[in-house]
Amino acid sequence: MTIPFETDRLLLRTMQADDLDAVYEIWGSPEVMKYCGGASTKSQIQCSIKFYRRLQNEKGYSVYTVLLKENSSIIGVCGFNPAENEHEAELLYHFNQLCWGKGYAAEAAAACVAALRKNGPNVRKIIAAVDPANPASGKVLRKIGMTAAGMKWFEDTQQEELCYEMELA
Ligand SMILES: CC(C)(COP(=O)(O)OP(=O)(O)OC[C@H]1O[C@@H](n2cnc3c(N)ncnc32)[C@H](O)[C@@H]1OP(=O)(O)O)[C@@H](O)C(=O)NCCC(=O)NCCS
Repeated sequence: MTIPFETDRLLLRTMQADDLDAVYEIWGSPEVMKYCGGASTKSQIQCSIKFYRRLQNEKGYSVYTVLLKENSSIIGVCGFNPAENEHEAELLYHFNQLCWGKGYAAEAAAACVAALRKNGPNVRKIIAAVDPANPASGKVLRKIGMTAAGMKWFEDTQQEELCYEMELA
């Protein structure tokens, strides 16, 4: 993927160490992370930023920092985690609560999928799992063209989640 990449309103770039405070507003927020494994501490987020910088070099995709072009503020994170199957990548998006409801998640997620499809490594399918109690997230996935593929049990969250997928080929 060619980084950074942009949409009408957003710029997506590799995570940087000094994103920490802004990303803590997102990954450190119990409200934002309610359906996504819970809030992280600052030191956990520091490790995650290092992980995602490495992931970009190793796999050619990652989770990116999302900035609003009009004022360069960091409003979210969006991108891909490795999946169990090496030909699949898992889409995720977490946005600062102040920025929900403006279409940013769907705009960022669509751009990540387009960039992966265009310049990506050997990924053939994008997957995502949604807590059924989080309908906004399912809506984002359907907006960008992913389709529901049934319920699956997840050990980490100890619950059934609705799985979505999209073939890239
Ligand atoms: C889920 C999340 C990313 C959505 O971000 P967003 O920028 O508000 O998303 P969008 O504006 O692109 O679209 C959200 C859609 O869901 C709809 N929505 C919001 N709350 C909803 C609800 N409770 N029930 C049904 N639909 C809902 C919105 O109306 C919007 O649809 P519309 O464009 O047709 O009006 C954001 O709420 C978030 O960061 N949540 C916490 C993290 C999270 O849950 N991540 C995903 C799972 S890991």
